[in-house]
Amino acid sequence: MKSKLTLILMAVFSSIVLNSCKTPESDDQKVEKLLSQLTLEEKVSLIHGNTYFTTPAIPRLGIPALHLSDGPCGVREENAPDSWNSANWTNDATAYFPSLTSLASTWNTDLATDFGNAYGEEAVIRGKDIMLAPGMNINRTPLNGRNWEYMSEDPFLVSRIAVNYIKAAQSKGIAVCAKHYALNNQEQDRGTINVEASERALREIYLPAFEAAVKEGEVLSVMGSYNKFRGKFACQNTYLLRDILKGEWGFRGLVMSDWGAVHNTMEAATSGLDLEMFPIGGKGDYYLGQPLLDSIKAGKLNANVVDDKVRRILYVMVKLNILGKPEPDTTGMAAKLGTPERAMTALKIAEESVILLKNNQVLPMNFKNIKTLAVIGDNATRKHSRGGGSTIIKAKYEITPLEGLQKRFGNSVKINFAQGYTVSKNLKAIDQALIAEAVKTAASADAVLIFGGLNHEPGLDCEGTDKPDMKLPYGQDELIKAVIKANPNTVVVMIAGSPVEMGSWIQDVKGLLYTSYLGMETGTALAGVLAGEVNPSGKLTYTLPVKLEDSPSFVLGEYPGANGTVNYKDDIWVGYRYFDTKNIKPLFPFGFGLSYTTFAYTNYKVEASNKADVVNCVVSFEITNTGKVDGKEIAQVYVSDPESALPRPLKELKGFAKVSLKAGESKTVQVSLDKRAFQYYDPATKQWVLEPGKFEIFAGSSSDNILLKQQIEL
Ligand code: BGC
Repeated sequence: MKSKLTLILMAVFSSIVLNSCKTPESDDQKVEKLLSQLTLEEKVSLIHGNTYFTTPAIPRLGIPALHLSDGPCGVREENAPDSWNSANWTNDATAYFPSLTSLASTWNTDLATDFGNAYGEEAVIRGKDIMLAPGMNINRTPLNGRNWEYMSEDPFLVSRIAVNYIKAAQSKGIAVCAKHYALNNQEQDRGTINVEASERALREIYLPAFEAAVKEGEVLSVMGSYNKFRGKFACQNTYLLRDILKGEWGFRGLVMSDWGAVHNTMEAATSGLDLEMFPIGGKGDYYLGQPLLDSIKAGKLNANVVDDKVRRILYVMVKLNILGKPEPDTTGMAAKLGTPERAMTALKIAEESVILLKNNQVLPMNFKNIKTLAVIGDNATRKHSRGGGSTIIKAKYEITPLEGLQKRFGNSVKINFAQGYTVSKNLKAIDQALIAEAVKTAASADAVLIFGGLNHEPGLDCEGTDKPDMKLPYGQDELIKAVIKANPNTVVVMIAGSPVEMGSWIQDVKGLLYTSYLGMETGTALAGVLAGEVNPSGKLTYTLPVKLEDSPSFVLGEYPGANGTVNYKDDIWVGYRYFDTKNIKPLFPFGFGLSYTTFAYTNYKVEASNKADVVNCVVSFEITNTGKVDGKEIAQVYVSDPESALPRPLKELKGFAKVSLKAGESKTVQVSLDKRAFQYYDPATKQWVLEPGKFEIFAGSSSDNILLKQQIEL
């Protein structure tokens, strides 16, 4: 007979064994368990918003509300629940990060990680679950009002920056939302336009960044765009959502609609959309609300159409670890937002994004020899955080270029500001009195800085509208020409998130810096670059055409389309793929940017093999800083396929590396190319194809400055 103690010990032992054998519930099990407990009404309530930026909670099952927020440059000011108005909070001012165009122009994937980390932290502090970024559409036309919210004309560059941004932001416990899927490349008629694009253009140009976001970035949500594709609205597009995104790419997260991008209950219910945001007409019901419930009850739709949507929403909640948790605690957030550390991240990105386009020995400026500095132009004093549409930010602070210069040099240099031009609705208006005043200010100065370009006013770099043309607004060409004439010692700082014409004065200006919107530390970053404390190391992420009429969406067309449809007849010939191949000289090419130092490329080696269908290609070369100051170089690797069954661009970007080099220092750069780097998409077989034969591997400092070449055979 066993003693009492033995029995107790046996009971304890078996309970330990049993517990340790009990495998924890998998994510899928957690989801399925909840799903089985929900009523149909509850399920339907989960698949649409209940305020402008939240979804409803189901407290009896511990299902929390989802808190969503724009946008790519930081967490947007708190929105009122039932209108586009501000919630008028006093504690929601945040870090204002540079625009994604700026981030991409650093070509620095580590900075994309830093951006994502800092951005994710701010979102957590603000109690957000899903951040509506990054914007990943391709810069197809220079006129798109949202080019500045996106990254580049090149899908490879967008992919590399986006993947790191997504991974880092999501590592902080939030989800991000890759937007706007897909082919939302113009603002004009965005809510109705039907995009027709070839399968090849779709696969090679417009989808690869989204594909990378899903497969490599493991992005947890995707936003369907406003436009139609091949006759179907993107949010009701079975091909884009079910077949490609969820089918081919295996996306497991949730697809939400852009705000008001749903138009039909039946199509939205069956095409792969999971979450409808923004009620019909701005108030009342949702297509995926009562009308869906009615359709199911009337037997027009099977109740299980709702299950996959809810399953994905719950899956995201499991990944965010918010099931059964209380509402986020945002007490004391004002002090935690926009900290000096995150401002420093914003500054580093801003500094590395500035692109030096021209320098006739005028930069860096020697502020010791400058007694009087003329600072001219509205962009010297304009704050950009408060405009542009959904990317608007209530910034903790924003240092303008003039403030940055005053802070840094105000004690030793007399800075005279002249407005130069007036920002008005009439983009063509020229203010002669302001030009005269600017000329006078410039003439009496030792050096002149003009801060011009675009801003977030409607019709320029702004959501909802496109630009009418590529011209500088408000008579800036006249202003710049007159100022250069009055004082040739002039540097222009162009702040623009999309291409502008500069041909009428480019020959005459001694120095030109080009940037997108630089965030809260704009002035600090620009003062540092102008003074040479920071060596500019950004490069163009899109081609700057001489004029709009040179750009492929204009020449090959169409833009903005006719009779409700835009045909992407430019096909795969987007950006440099067109300029390069057709030998059209742009004003500045894709990938271009100068430095205060110089670099040499030597010791080229390309090793390539294709064994058992596995491609291994390693490109290596040495870069030497041959100048007198430290600097950073962005080396670019392009692949060319000289003989191919389908026409291919002269070359395509397939790798890059940003290297920091002290004066005189050399470093070896290594870039690996995978199979996809050599493939094209064959619409006939619906497959990526590697055509065996010769390939050229180019390395250089920009798309039109190839310094090293080697042929390989695969
Ligand atoms: C924009 C989205 C944005 C959403 C919510 C839409 O108008 O296209 O980018 O996330 O509004 O503000």
